[in-house]
Amino acid sequence: MRVRSAVLREMGAAEPYAESRPLEIAELELDPPGPGELLVRVRAAGLCHSDLSVINGSRPRVMPMALGHEAAGEVVGTGPGVSGFAAGDHVVLAFVPACGECEPCRAGRAALCEPGAAANHAGTLLSGERRLATPEGEAINHHLGVSAFSDHIVVSEASAVKVDPELPFEIAALFGCAVLTGVGAAVNAARIEPGQRVAVFGLGGVGLSALLGAVLQGAGTIVAVDVVADKLELARELGATDTIEAGPGAVAAIRELTAGGADHAIETVGSARVLTDAYDATRRGGTTTTVGLPDPSQMLSIPAVSLVAEERVLRGSYLGSSVPARDLPKFIDLHRQGKLRVERLLTHRIALDEINEGFDRLARGEAVRQAVIFD
Ligand SMILES: NC(=O)c1ccc[n+]([C@@H]2O[C@H](COP(=O)([O-])OP(=O)(O)OC[C@H]3O[C@@H](n4cnc5c(N)ncnc54)[C@H](O)[C@@H]3O)[C@@H](O)[C@H]2O)c1
Ligand SMILES: [Zn+2]
Ligand SMILES: [Zn+2]
Repeated sequence: MRVRSAVLREMGAAEPYAESRPLEIAELELDPPGPGELLVRVRAAGLCHSDLSVINGSRPRVMPMALGHEAAGEVVGTGPGVSGFAAGDHVVLAFVPACGECEPCRAGRAALCEPGAAANHAGTLLSGERRLATPEGEAINHHLGVSAFSDHIVVSEASAVKVDPELPFEIAALFGCAVLTGVGAAVNAARIEPGQRVAVFGLGGVGLSALLGAVLQGAGTIVAVDVVADKLELARELGATDTIEAGPGAVAAIRELTAGGADHAIETVGSARVLTDAYDATRRGGTTTTVGLPDPSQMLSIPAVSLVAEERVLRGSYLGSSVPARDLPKFIDLHRQGKLRVERLLTHRIALDEINEGFDRLARGEAVRQAVIFD
């Protein structure tokens, strides 16, 4: 079938993207779903900083690529051998397919699925196939098994999780990356406990989700840090007890507000310098959980002895260290109960044709989550 997708052919375009237009809205040919695959009508897709990092080249991927990895939609067709999904199901797509059989999957660490990571690296679906091509027959790579900025897409059933059909698509989409990643970082990776002192660095879709996760876990003091004043205000609305403008004095201010340092710092900026600050803001015995994805050239420097003599912990968290099939329904249910105010993260609804302007807004810090709405 013929579909419309946002395709990136070259990384590193100059800003503003409204002028350089790195994403081209192209008519592509979408093959029918193969074994274990689903045809999904995408209804909403969120703009994440990880998409921006592919556009600007700091997270290089194989080109050309149909971009986007945060989406919700409706199953409209199934390939051979699919038993867990049927036409009409509402699904959220996760950006790592979970094969269910490899060692990390069997150990409950689906975010590290080995065939999933290999397929994502190659720009294919879990099957190793590409289902998108130009009308001339040039194969187009899939972004993280999702390629969300397309009106229809074929995905592996291992990328999809069936969700409550009552949830509006534009909110459901955000669960696929921002919420799964941020809430998961607080709940699955940091495992924040009631009353603990938490600092969150970066208040985009991921950071504010981590903040929502900290609130959910019953954290005591929650200090939120960003460079943009509007984000600090939103953080306060969502449960931050204190906010700090990022800068040279931020670490000292956090240490004071948390009576000697945070039990948990969560970094969601994607900068080794900010990660160093996050580590410095923790107390003896504290844990730093890093979620941001810095350019691969960045190195981290911390006093090595502090890990031992102060029993400090530094850990990374990908995909919220989650099992999407377990955690997405759980987080969506908590949202239904009013315990995760995800709807506050959606700041803009845009059309597919406005996507380059959307990435300008994200790059300038003027948006939290923007969703492309497909009618
Ligand atoms: N680990 C994962 O699985 C995963 C998943 C999704 C996104 N990410 C990464 O997480 C990061 C955040 O993604 P997002 O979509 O929320 O991005 P975003 O651009 O919406 O948010 C980043 C925030 O950091 C703020 N910021 C910039 N410089 C800062 C500084 N020096 N100190 C404090 N705050 C600062 C910005 O103002 C912005 O609010 C990105 O690096 C993204 O690639 C990781
Ligand atoms: Zn993302
Ligand atoms: Zn696996």
